[in-house]
Amino acid sequence: METKLKDPVMVEGEWRDGAGSGVGRVLFTEEQIQQKIVELGREIMRDYDGLQVVLVGILNGCLPFMADLMRQVKMDMEVDFMSVSSYGGGTQSSGVVRIIKDLNFNIHGRHVLLVEDIIDSGLTARYLLDNLRTRRPASVEICALLDKREARAEEVPLKYVGFECPNRFVVGYGLDHRQLYRNLPYIRLLEEDSPTS
Ligand code: IMP
Ligand code: MG
Repeated sequence: METKLKDPVMVEGEWRDGAGSGVGRVLFTEEQIQQKIVELGREIMRDYDGLQVVLVGILNGCLPFMADLMRQVKMDMEVDFMSVSSYGGGTQSSGVVRIIKDLNFNIHGRHVLLVEDIIDSGLTARYLLDNLRTRRPASVEICALLDKREARAEEVPLKYVGFECPNRFVVGYGLDHRQLYRNLPYIRLLEEDSPTS
């Protein structure tokens, strides 16, 4: 039986939104995201050909991106995960990061590619780069699905970027608001008038 993916354009009421927030416009459809990941996978295969690469996903936001990206990197490679949290509440990243879950494996001599959902202020990514470099990997680079460039407080080099993202709060495809919406297969504004993060 032929099954067809439903057009992921958000229709009000389609999502059972217990949080009761408004419904924002879709910025990146499921199809656009999947197409982009195929391209990213090809670039990674080209750049890391013959090298020992380990993809390091930053939980929880990386989850769907990592799952899709790793299957487009069609060569021998490893995966590992870290979970970090910013000290202090609020929505702004403080830049002081606590490691909740560290890597399982030693990355000494490995080519590490950090897999992030979004780079916002850049503070988390800066901390991770500095921290991982002390472990003497062969290289550390970043692959981010979204780049919220306007919000950058700390310049970090991004080797691979899926899409540039406006300076608005977005959800879906791993990105949450109060832990909700990570399971949307596309990325949308939290609310049409959503503030900046
Ligand atoms: P940074 O340290 O400010 O770059 O923070 C990055 C983290 O903040 C990401 O990994 C996300 O968890 C979160 N974040 C930043 N912007 C958004 C957004 O628009 N929606 C959901 N989470 C976001
Ligand atoms: Mg988050």
